Amino acid sequence: MPRLSRGLCFFGGALLALLSTADAFYLPGAAPHDYKKGEQVGLLVNALTPMIAGYDNAKLKSLINYDYYNPSFHFCQPEGGPKKEPASLGSTLFGDRIFNSPYDIKMLEDNTTCRVLCTATVPSQDAKFYNDRIREDYAINWLIDGLPAAEMKEDKKTGELFFEQGFNLGYDEGEFVEQPAVHNHYDIVLRYHTPTPGVDVHRIVGVLVWPVSRGGSQEVPSDGIMDCAPANPAPLLLSESQNTTITYTYRVMWNQSDTPWATRWDNYLHIFDPRIHWFSLINSIIVVVFLCLMVSMILLRTVSRDISRYNAIDLSEDVQEDWGWKLVHGEVFRTPGHPMILAVLVGNGSQLCAMVGVTLVFALLGFLSPSNRGSLATVMMVCWTFFGGIAGYISSRVYASLGGANKRRNSFFTATIMPTFVFAVVFLLNLFLIAAGSSGAVPFGTLVLIIVLWFGISAPLSAVGSYYGSKHGAIQHPVRVNQIPRQIPPQPKYLRPWSATILAGILPFGAAFIELYFVLSSLFASRAYYAFGFLALTAAVVALTTATVTILFTYFILCAEDYRWHWRAFLTGGGSAFWLLAYGIVYWALRLSLDSLTSAVLYFGYLLLLCLFDFLITGTIGFLATYWAVRRLYSAIRVD
Ligand SMILES: *[C@@H]1O[C@H](CO)[C@@H](O)[C@H](O)[C@H]1NC(C)=O
Ligand SMILES: *[C@@H]1O[C@H](CO)[C@@H](O)[C@H](O)[C@H]1NC(C)=O
Ligand SMILES: *[C@@H]1O[C@H](CO)[C@@H](O)[C@H](O)[C@H]1NC(C)=O
Repeated sequence: MPRLSRGLCFFGGALLALLSTADAFYLPGAAPHDYKKGEQVGLLVNALTPMIAGYDNAKLKSLINYDYYNPSFHFCQPEGGPKKEPASLGSTLFGDRIFNSPYDIKMLEDNTTCRVLCTATVPSQDAKFYNDRIREDYAINWLIDGLPAAEMKEDKKTGELFFEQGFNLGYDEGEFVEQPAVHNHYDIVLRYHTPTPGVDVHRIVGVLVWPVSRGGSQEVPSDGIMDCAPANPAPLLLSESQNTTITYTYRVMWNQSDTPWATRWDNYLHIFDPRIHWFSLINSIIVVVFLCLMVSMILLRTVSRDISRYNAIDLSEDVQEDWGWKLVHGEVFRTPGHPMILAVLVGNGSQLCAMVGVTLVFALLGFLSPSNRGSLATVMMVCWTFFGGIAGYISSRVYASLGGANKRRNSFFTATIMPTFVFAVVFLLNLFLIAAGSSGAVPFGTLVLIIVLWFGISAPLSAVGSYYGSKHGAIQHPVRVNQIPRQIPPQPKYLRPWSATILAGILPFGAAFIELYFVLSSLFASRAYYAFGFLALTAAVVALTTATVTILFTYFILCAEDYRWHWRAFLTGGGSAFWLLAYGIVYWALRLSLDSLTSAVLYFGYLLLLCLFDFLITGTIGFLATYWAVRRLYSAIRVD
């Protein structure tokens, strides 16, 4: 069993590696930085993030980021106060708050010299805040030459060494620790690569930090030389009843490495929990088998029924009449209820589909290297903004085809409803973040920028799209609509709207199951995500499954002489969103242990947004695919 498991994981890993080879090249902008000996190496500090501790069954305990220079931490500040580094829209949205720092690092100099950074006093009233963050496994995030400082960790299961981004603020485990211990000394190992030996050009290819809690006297001796590694290190504890003095020290060690610059990110890639791969793999095999069984069973039943009916008709010429889906040819293109809402949903869904598609193409081409922080989110935002035109065009054409008449209102709603809703949710979550004193709150300037993108570019483009959409007008339907609607016979249970939606949603959800875990982990536990090749494949499979399953279910409801397929197709397509929601709740129960209300609200807020996007995207795919199929189906029959 373990061998089989390892074999499968290896296979999965190889597949992942194969599919993500596109990550090996970088944008021209992300060219290597060549350092000369003695050149200043900047150390930037990013927000502190909660992380999943390395031990078994560890859970994420919070979702709130804190600024490195949050006054309660009393970290050493650079002269003249911290300065904010410029950041892209995406990196700001995803929580980066990057500042400069007082660390003085020069290429290949001061090797292993113990240096004092500063002495800080943590007053008793801030000690609790500090200790609580240690208990929640917060990590400090540094960036050196675009590389995150990492802790070298050992995967308990495989014994492999890997780099885990960020390093612990302190520690709270172990037999002798009743109280959290503060890390106040950092051993920084900088791995450098010299491309041409003998030439004074060096590149940084790895940043490792060993944080240490160094108790004892915090006083700096008069000669300024501190002992960074005392013989009997006692941990440094923060007292919550009196002020504590902390002296922060650091040591830089330069280690030569053979890793070339181009592959320096490889160490950060680690497949963390093989069990989950094993589990997901079995799961998706089950789902695929289930899908095949179901489809073949259904096809067998329908085909044999159709054949027997055909034979019956053949026997007695005069009782020949239409049956099943043919019977409702006069109804299928009848205007559904609320055509406006449906058109708006489909329009916005197409915008999201286009955004996801283009972003995945960018990712596959290797444009979204981890060195460009937040590039994924930036590309998504920009795509979403410029695809406003697609939303307007599709929405107005669908609206016209559904027989809607109020074009202006449709155009207005397409451009406004969804963005307003999403913006309102983000704004609300922001209020929670601000109340919790988190740095994760989207800054005011970024909010203004988003509004400008939306009002200034996306909404006008949507209006232009609507104009062209209504100019092209409605899609012609192959059959006419009868004057008087038919009676709809009672439907079998599995074809009722909700059961059909839930049933159909299993399949695309099952196809995405493996990737979902990683996507959620990278979203919530700030783990980097790289396997874009695999993600793109999964997305394609999900889209295909959604389209097929929706067409299948629509065929069944038409056969059951229920002609109200428009909304049903959208719902059935979007069925996977309900499974996503359920999965999110399971993930919450198994992988998270969020104590604060703010973290829980944030989690469910983001989860709901994620489900909404999934619902719109898959619903749109289902609806458009079914529309196409229904037109094909009915243009094949002859009606007199
Ligand atoms: C602790 O420090 C605060 C200021 O940071 C000061 O007001 C207070 O008197 C100090 N308390 C003790 C016990 O030294
Ligand atoms: C720095 O010191 C370490 C440990 O003594 C040594 O292995 C390494 O080669 C030194 N690096 C340089 C650039 O001298
Ligand atoms: C750096 O080099 C020293 C000496 O070769 C070695 O003992 C140490 O493990 C190296 N550190 C890392 C992080 O590679």
